[in-house]
Amino acid sequence: MDAYQRAYEDWLTDPEAFWGAAARSVTWTRPPRRILDRDRPPFYRWFPDAELNTSVNALDRHVEAGRGEQTALVYDSPVTGTARRYTFTQLTEEVARAASALASLGVGRGDRVIVYMPMIPEAVVAMLACARLGAVHSVVFGGFAAPELAARIDDARPKAVVAASCGIEPTRLVPYKPMLDEAIDLATHKPVACLVVQREQQRCVLVAGRDHDWEHLVTAAPPHPPVPVAATDPLYILYTSGTTGRPKGIVRDNGGHAVAMAWSMRNVYGIGPGDVMWAASDIGWAVGHSYTVYAPLLAGATTILYEGKPVGTPDAGAFWRVIADHGVNVLFTAPTAIRAIKKEDPGAELVGRYDLSSLRALFLAGERLDPATFDWATDALGLPVIDNWWQTETGWPVASSPFGLERIPLKAGSASVPMPGYDIRVLDAEGAEVPRGTEGALCLRLPLPPGALPTLWEDDDRYVASYLSAFDGYYLTGDGGFLDEDRYVFVLGRTDDVINVAGHRLSAGSMEAVLAAHPAVAECAVVGVADPFKGQVPRGLVVIKSGAEIAPQALEADLVARVRAEIGPVASLRRVDVVAALPKTRSGKILRRVMRELADGRSPAIPSTIEDASVLEAIRPVLVPDSPVSDRGPLSPGG
Ligand code: COA
Ligand code: AMP
Repeated sequence: MDAYQRAYEDWLTDPEAFWGAAARSVTWTRPPRRILDRDRPPFYRWFPDAELNTSVNALDRHVEAGRGEQTALVYDSPVTGTARRYTFTQLTEEVARAASALASLGVGRGDRVIVYMPMIPEAVVAMLACARLGAVHSVVFGGFAAPELAARIDDARPKAVVAASCGIEPTRLVPYKPMLDEAIDLATHKPVACLVVQREQQRCVLVAGRDHDWEHLVTAAPPHPPVPVAATDPLYILYTSGTTGRPKGIVRDNGGHAVAMAWSMRNVYGIGPGDVMWAASDIGWAVGHSYTVYAPLLAGATTILYEGKPVGTPDAGAFWRVIADHGVNVLFTAPTAIRAIKKEDPGAELVGRYDLSSLRALFLAGERLDPATFDWATDALGLPVIDNWWQTETGWPVASSPFGLERIPLKAGSASVPMPGYDIRVLDAEGAEVPRGTEGALCLRLPLPPGALPTLWEDDDRYVASYLSAFDGYYLTGDGGFLDEDRYVFVLGRTDDVINVAGHRLSAGSMEAVLAAHPAVAECAVVGVADPFKGQVPRGLVVIKSGAEIAPQALEADLVARVRAEIGPVASLRRVDVVAALPKTRSGKILRRVMRELADGRSPAIPSTIEDASVLEAIRPVLVPDSPVSDRGPLSPGG
C-alpha cells in the first residue's frame, strides 16, 4: 500500500499542505493564500480568501486548453431512443446561454434555483448555468411527490425553478410540470419564474407571466460571462432525509468542492482528461451531483447521462451496451442496479455480447454491498469491483479502495480504507474508542475535508445538533460498523431511522408522519426490512384506533396510496400490517432500535425496560426478513 500509505500519511502529518497542493489543480480567479479557517470551531471553512467560478473549471478552461472538440457529455436515452453528444465548446456555449436566460428572469449571485428535472442534458446545463451565475441550485429528485417538493421550495426560497414537462419511466410518463404547479400552490414561498423544457412526449401548460419556454428563452440568449464567487459561497443545496420528516439542506461550497472532486476523480476513481466516466445515478442524488455532473467535467473527462434503467430498457444488457457504445472507463452505480441485472441475467450471458475492453473498474456505493453481489460482479466482469462508502453530507468517498493511486487487496463486505481527509474512529455509547474489530458508531474526526458539508442551509444549530453534538470533536455519520486490524472499514447499516431503499435514502420518520395522520391510526412505526432486491424496503406497522371501523386491507391500501401521494413513488412502501400493539418500554417509548435490528436479520438485545415482551414476539413474523440480502456478511468480526 505504498502510494496510498504515503498519501494518507502526508495528509495526516500536514492536512493544510496536502489540500493546498491539491488546490493547484483548480483554476482560481484569486488563489488561496489561507487553506483552512479554524477560527470558529466546530465550523471550518476551506480556502477562505480564494475566489473562483465552478463552471469555468468544469468547462471554459478545457476549451482554453485546446480540448474544445472533445466530448464533454453523452446523453444516452433508451426510453426516448435518442443519443446526443456535446463537446466542451458546445456545452460551454449552452451553459453560458442558459445562464443569460436565468439572469433575464432575475437570478443572480446567491439566489437559489430549484431544478426538478429528469435525466436530460438541460438538467446538467441548468446546474452549470447556476454555477456560472454564482446562484445556488437545489436539484429535487423526480420520484418525490409535490408535498416533498413544496417543503424544499419553502426551505430554499428559490427565485426560479427549472423544470421539464415530463419524465419517462419505463411504464409511464411522469408529469413533472403538473407536480411542480401543485407544489408551488402548496408552498408558502412563491418563485417568481419557472423555466420549462417542453418534451415532445408530453407537453405542458405554461402559466402566463410566470412560466417560460426553455427553447424560446435559452436559444436566443447571448452568452453570460462567469461570475467569480468566494470559495466559501454555496454552490448547491442538496436535501437529504434525516430522522425527522423535515429534510436536511446539505450545503456544498464552491472551492472545497472543486478541490475534492478533482482529487477524488484522479486518486479514487483513476479518471483523467479524455477518459470516460459513467455514474449511473439520477442527478437528484449525491452520486449524480458529484460523479455524473461535476467531477468528470472538472477533470476534463467525458461524462455519460443515461436516461434509462439497468433492466427493462430494453434488457439486462443495457449497462454493458452503454459501456461498449461510449468506451466507458469507469462505471459507478448502486449495488441494487447490479442485483437487478443479476436477477434477470444470473449467468451474466449478456455481458459477453458486448466489447467491455474499455472498462477498468466498477464502483458501487449508496448502500451496503452484500458479498454475493460483489462476487457475482467480480466474476461477470473480471475487474476490480470497488465498494466505496460515503454520504450526501461528505460529497465524496470517506472510504474506498484508492484505485487511482494503487491497487490494494479488496475484502468482500468492506468499503476498504479511509481516504485522506477522513480519520474514521469507532466509538461506543460513551464516546470511547472501541478496539479494532468491535462494532460501534462510525465517526469522523473534525475538521471534515474540503467538499464535505460546512453546515446545513441557514441552520447552523441543526447542523451541530444533528452531527456534532453526540461526541465532542467528531462528526457522527449515523452508520454503525467496525474497523478491522488492517484499518478496513465494514459498514453495517444506519443506527438511526434513515432507511436505504434501492440506493435511495429515505426517512422512516416522514413515512410515519403520513401514517400517523390517518384518522383510523392510533400508533404506528415504519421500519426498514432487509429485502433481497432493494437492500431494504419500508414496512409499516399500525395499531387501529379503538372504535375505528375499517378493514385492515382497506386501511393498508389507503396508507400505501397516501405515502405515494405525499412522499412519492420512490418511498416504495407496499406493505402495512395491522398489529395489536407496538413494543414499548415501560415509560411508553416505542422500541424502534429493537424492531430495526430484528428487521435487519439480527438478534437484538431486548432491553430490560420492555413493557411486554410478548408484543415483540407477536410482531416478529412481520419484521424478520424471509430471505435477507444474501448473507449479511460478517456482522461481527469473524462472525
Ligand atoms: N421520477 C419519477 N418516478 C421515479 C423516478 C423518477 N426519477 N425514479 C423512480 N421512480 C419511481 C419508479 O417508477 C417506481 O414507481 P412504481 O412504484 O410506479 O413502479 C418507484 O419510483 C420506485 O422506484 P425504484 O425504487 O427505483 O424501483 P424500480 O423497480 O423502478 O427500479 C432499480 C429498481 C434497481 C432499477 C432502480 O432503483 C435503480 O436503477 N437503482 C439504482 C440506484 C441508484 O441510482 N441510486 C442512486 C445512488 S447511487
Ligand atoms: P446518501 O446520503 O443517499 O448517499 O446515503 C448515505 C448512506 O447510504 C450512508 O450513511 C450509508 O448508510 C449508506 N451507504 C452509502 N454507501 C455505502 C456503502 N458503500 N456501504 C454501506 N452503506 C453505504
